[in-house]
Amino acid sequence: MRLDVVTIFPEYLDPLNVSLVGKARARGQLGVHVHDLRDWTYDRHNTVDDTPYGGGPGMVMKTEPWGDALDSVLADGYEHGSHGPALIVPTPSGRPFTQELAVHLSERPWLIFTPARYEGIDRRVVDEYATRIPVYEVSIGDYVLAGGEAAVLVITEAVARLLPGVLGNAESHRDDSFAPGAMANLLEGPVHTKPPVWRGREIPDVLLSGHHGKIARWRRDEALRRTTAHRPDLIERCDPKAFDKKDREM
Ligand code: ADE
Repeated sequence: MRLDVVTIFPEYLDPLNVSLVGKARARGQLGVHVHDLRDWTYDRHNTVDDTPYGGGPGMVMKTEPWGDALDSVLADGYEHGSHGPALIVPTPSGRPFTQELAVHLSERPWLIFTPARYEGIDRRVVDEYATRIPVYEVSIGDYVLAGGEAAVLVITEAVARLLPGVLGNAESHRDDSFAPGAMANLLEGPVHTKPPVWRGREIPDVLLSGHHGKIARWRRDEALRRTTAHRPDLIERCDPKAFDKKDREM
């Protein structure tokens, strides 16, 4: 997979060199290209923003640097054999970023991120590229960040860990909160490791029982309990057929 990020704060993306994403990069599973939007400004002050038409507070990012930057990124990617680009526009007015969308994006070969500062990017930029390639306007939550860079880090990490071979143990996706299957729409319950007693706190007996059926039942009960407490909206959204008799006894 190829990732491009165009930003006025390239150093904000330095964490993409670390940990899971950094390792995927080093192994060649992920190509990451971070670009400085100001490389596509031609005035003395490297201006990327201007006052909004119609008035109001704040500044709006200008069309020309974004247009030139995206044309250049697209040309470079195609030249290097990439195909199937999609534009990811982080914005609080986007569709919610979910595990389902992460899975979908992880199946695309090439993502181009346009994190904005100020009041956002002149609308014509999204409208222009939407005529050429798929565009996803994405929000990572119902709050407003100072810019889209943190959202790019979030989306990139959620997507990269789904790429084949990136997580050491492919099974580790299986029980993720929000993963499809038996735990669909449920939050993951608590986890434990050695030592067996810590500050007088013991491991739940069932986890030491070696009884796989009972352990699976316990994990599902804990997931149901936690989801009911923290995210009752997720329970509401579950297909009633997804609950078995024991679930209903809880
Ligand atoms: N930019 C500012 N706030 C954002 C959010 N919640 N999600 C994505 N991008 C953003």
